[in-house]
Amino acid sequence: MTSTQDRSANGNGAGGAAPDRAAAERLRDHVAAQLTRARDRSRLLTEAVDDHDLVRQHSKLMSPLVWDLAHIGNQEELWLVRDVGGREPVRADIDELYDAFKHARSTRPELPLLGPDEARRYVTEVRDKVFDVLERTPLEGSRLVDGAFAFGMIVQHEQQHDETMLATHQLRVGDPVLDAPPPPPGGPVGPAEVLVPGGPFTMGTSTEAWALDNERPAHLASTDPFFIDTTPVTNGAYLEFVADGGYADQRWWSEEGWAHARKAGLVAPRFWERHGDRWHRTAFGVTAPLDPDQPVVHVCYHEADAYARWAGKRLPTEVEWEKAARFDPATGRSRRYPWGDEEPTGRHANLGQRHLSPAPVGAYPAGASPLGVHQLIGDVWEWTSSDFRGYTGFEVFPYAEYSQVFFGPDHKVLRGGSFGTDPAALRATFRNWDYPIRRQIFAGFRCARDASRDESA
Ligand SMILES: [Fe+2]
Repeated sequence: MTSTQDRSANGNGAGGAAPDRAAAERLRDHVAAQLTRARDRSRLLTEAVDDHDLVRQHSKLMSPLVWDLAHIGNQEELWLVRDVGGREPVRADIDELYDAFKHARSTRPELPLLGPDEARRYVTEVRDKVFDVLERTPLEGSRLVDGAFAFGMIVQHEQQHDETMLATHQLRVGDPVLDAPPPPPGGPVGPAEVLVPGGPFTMGTSTEAWALDNERPAHLASTDPFFIDTTPVTNGAYLEFVADGGYADQRWWSEEGWAHARKAGLVAPRFWERHGDRWHRTAFGVTAPLDPDQPVVHVCYHEADAYARWAGKRLPTEVEWEKAARFDPATGRSRRYPWGDEEPTGRHANLGQRHLSPAPVGAYPAGASPLGVHQLIGDVWEWTSSDFRGYTGFEVFPYAEYSQVFFGPDHKVLRGGSFGTDPAALRATFRNWDYPIRRQIFAGFRCARDASRDESA
């Protein structure tokens, strides 16, 4: 798509030009469809509640929904209307209000934000211009537009904010306003853990057109042999830790985790509630008995780490997680997804807000990895033990605030996406990060352990 041969064929206007034009049109259609899907989802999340709910803050951890909406439009304006399109600003006066680095989430309700109608008009005006820019911009010739990268970045940005808005919906108190069919039933998953052989594999990517800077470049990484859980840790398994007094036993916690658990008064995952001798969970305004077969969700890194120690295991490193998700021992190749290179569908994984909860373990046999590891993609983000850092050869692109400013020991990496992550914003190389105390995100985990010499022979 972006090679010099492609460009010279276009320039000659003959021979290879027609196929190139057809490929460019297909790419434009793909971008337009992805932009529209993201906007349909933003609309669903912001039209499900009334204006009062749109402008109020449902938690100090989150922005008012109306901030997210106009911020989505503002980022789209900055990158696609002004940078890529070279057009005049639509609303330069509001850039500062919607700069996520200028105002902490907790302070955003006090800002003179666009109201719901104004925000809707603004994002629509920006989008109309973006469709025009998309029609007129050659999707090659600079790194920002090659393979429609900037458009892909904006699609992912909107979908990421949609997942954040979904987390705001989960924090909202009141009658349910979102609806979705239940996830598919669980099924058999084989042994509880899987041996991943030691040695090198290709981690990260240099070829995915819409991969973000922190996923690049592709490089060799190596692990010792290790065992990884076949499925994420379930509510049922986690309940055993709770019932065993895990939250009150310092032995299982890191020093930092123990201090946090005491200070924050943690006794169970967020949104769990004990009714008599049964535990219930509230999700999007609906309280129901805990499903023991669904992956546990809304636990922080410290809780995941403590559970793993209690279970005689540990969290996987990020390298181990990606190897379990991508490495095909038969070919030595790294796949795009655990099941292969094909884009995710509803058969492979619980993604895209198709359901409003994680699916029971074993619900997606078609999504398992070659080694038989299930549900690495979708359901719950999985905490890893790794700090968020740039790979060797990392280059900032297109701006340091996307990921580089977050590198360091303050953030832990999460992998795999959740039921609230759209497939457009996820690959097996995709890296998410957050503070180890965060519980409002759709995060769970699975455990790993070292393989002994006998076990790995
Ligand atoms: Fe953002």
